[in-house]
Amino acid sequence: MPDTLTIPRPDDWHVHLRDGDMLRAVAPFTARRFARAIVMPNLAVPVTTTALASVYRARVIAAAGPDFTPLMTAYLTDTSDAADLIAGHRDGVLTAVKLYPANATTNSAAGVTDIARVMPVLAAMAEAGMPLLIHGEVTDADVDVFDREAVFIDRILAPLVARLPALRIVFEHVSTAEAVAFVTEGGPNIAATITPHHLHLSRNALFAGGLRPHHYCLPVLKREHHRRALVAAATSGSPKFFLGTDSAPHPVGDKEAACGCAGVWNAPFALESYAGAFDAAGALDRLEGFASRFGPAFYLLPVNAKMVTLTRATTPVPERIGDLVPFHAGEILAWRAT
Ligand code: DOR
Ligand code: ZN
Repeated sequence: MPDTLTIPRPDDWHVHLRDGDMLRAVAPFTARRFARAIVMPNLAVPVTTTALASVYRARVIAAAGPDFTPLMTAYLTDTSDAADLIAGHRDGVLTAVKLYPANATTNSAAGVTDIARVMPVLAAMAEAGMPLLIHGEVTDADVDVFDREAVFIDRILAPLVARLPALRIVFEHVSTAEAVAFVTEGGPNIAATITPHHLHLSRNALFAGGLRPHHYCLPVLKREHHRRALVAAATSGSPKFFLGTDSAPHPVGDKEAACGCAGVWNAPFALESYAGAFDAAGALDRLEGFASRFGPAFYLLPVNAKMVTLTRATTPVPERIGDLVPFHAGEILAWRAT
């Protein structure tokens, strides 16, 4: 096994940077490692239009510094204006549209209540080549929370792909073997992101010695066989699977609470974390495609020219960074990025 690995600077194809003080606190961690990132639009006031994305982009650039390119998304609602979204894409403000089923996760109350309502918008996006990024979970109270992704595939995603095969789709933060199979067997217009926490942890981690709120995210961690399917997909060399951290900070008091928020803040050590997962699978040679090449290929963007080097070196992760608990808090990681 090599002790160093030099790869083109990666991008993060799914991140939550928030706004205000939190944005200023977290954006530098993403900008330190990633050249570009797909910025999620689920702010307290969702980023639903091209105009809102444009002003949010300016705030992100101010917080992250000049070496980082935020790629903006618009939050799809039942009443989204297709013409505005398509114009935003044409003019380079919007990279993609994000579909949250209403009430699926943090700040998703304004999300889509019925996919039928947004079919005209999705058809226009397919026509324009504008990607749709999907939080793939049904929200029905009678569906077990661990089954919500698999049920979403059957009820929503498979019919959508059949109806609009030209629509370019990223199935975000896949968490199940069913999602891996669906993406693997799909055509070239469907891809998926995989987070570091879903590669490292199964649902046992949520209850290891007591309730572990910092491992709670959505989609929730699944059984070990699903984790293994995700590792197999990420390390397969298939260009359909690429890096998306879903780094999602919440103040420690909102995580360690009677009703704790969903989200793992993994931005500070995300690349080291992915390297550890690939190393454990004996697949370090596959990290470059996953982290640096397959995302740009799907989004029709160039691979970054600058490089990053990963070295096998003990890297302690602090218990806290400010008001936030990072993924792997208190652990010593085996890789270091420079
Ligand atoms: O765990 C999550 N946190 N999953 C999501 O889908 C949203 C995110 C957040 O914004 O906190
Ligand atoms: Zn997310």
